[in-house]
Amino acid sequence: MMSKKKVLVGCTGSVATIKLPQLVQNLSQHNIEVRIVVTERAKHFLKDAQLPPGCQMLSDTVEWAAWQGRGDPVLHIDLAKWADVFLIAPLDANTLGKLASGICDNILTCVARAWDPAKPLLFCPAMNTRMWEHPVTAPQVALLKSWGYKEVPCISKALMCGDTGIGGMAEVDTIVQTTLRWLNHWDAYTPLETRR
Ligand SMILES: Cc1cc2nc3c(=O)[nH]c(=O)nc-3n(C[C@H](O)[C@H](O)[C@H](O)COP(=O)(O)O)c2cc1C
Repeated sequence: MMSKKKVLVGCTGSVATIKLPQLVQNLSQHNIEVRIVVTERAKHFLKDAQLPPGCQMLSDTVEWAAWQGRGDPVLHIDLAKWADVFLIAPLDANTLGKLASGICDNILTCVARAWDPAKPLLFCPAMNTRMWEHPVTAPQVALLKSWGYKEVPCISKALMCGDTGIGGMAEVDTIVQTTLRWLNHWDAYTPLETRR
């Protein structure tokens, strides 16, 4: 049997994080092993989330508790090595800004900073239309794409805040199909350390 592909899903403090169980379930149906990294704000949207048994959800709390002394794992580095694809869904305005400026002050942004640019990093922006249309957004998205990150573009729809407009996270099916496409690209990967 083919070994499972590994997808690390990153969730930020967008209300679209409530779609995580649906996203994980859908990915798992395609023989994919999923781990999750969340920001502290994302946790708020996952209080009642039902995730498949054994699906690890990692956060700053877990990362800092895991390291007590020399020899202990540094989770964000291990995760960056473990995954074939890093899928940030949803990517909120705040973390978009952090990624664009290289800030790495939590487990999710540290994984992104330690990510091997030869492996696919997919991001799915999700924010209110007003935030999306702020002049800082487009150059930040363009910068991420210039590094090779793949955008799964946001869509126009009735947003959770009651407004209708551009900024909604792409549909889960679109995100999964895009992820599968990039995973299938990725059969002959040589780890960063052995390429130096
Ligand atoms: C109910 C609620 C919903 C939110 N939804 C979004 C969203 O969809 N997109 C976004 O960019 N920010 C949203 N925010 C704001 C972010 O949660 C806020 O910027 C936070 O600092 C993000 O932190 P993080 O990027 O570390 O997860 C929302 C805030 C609240 C209270």
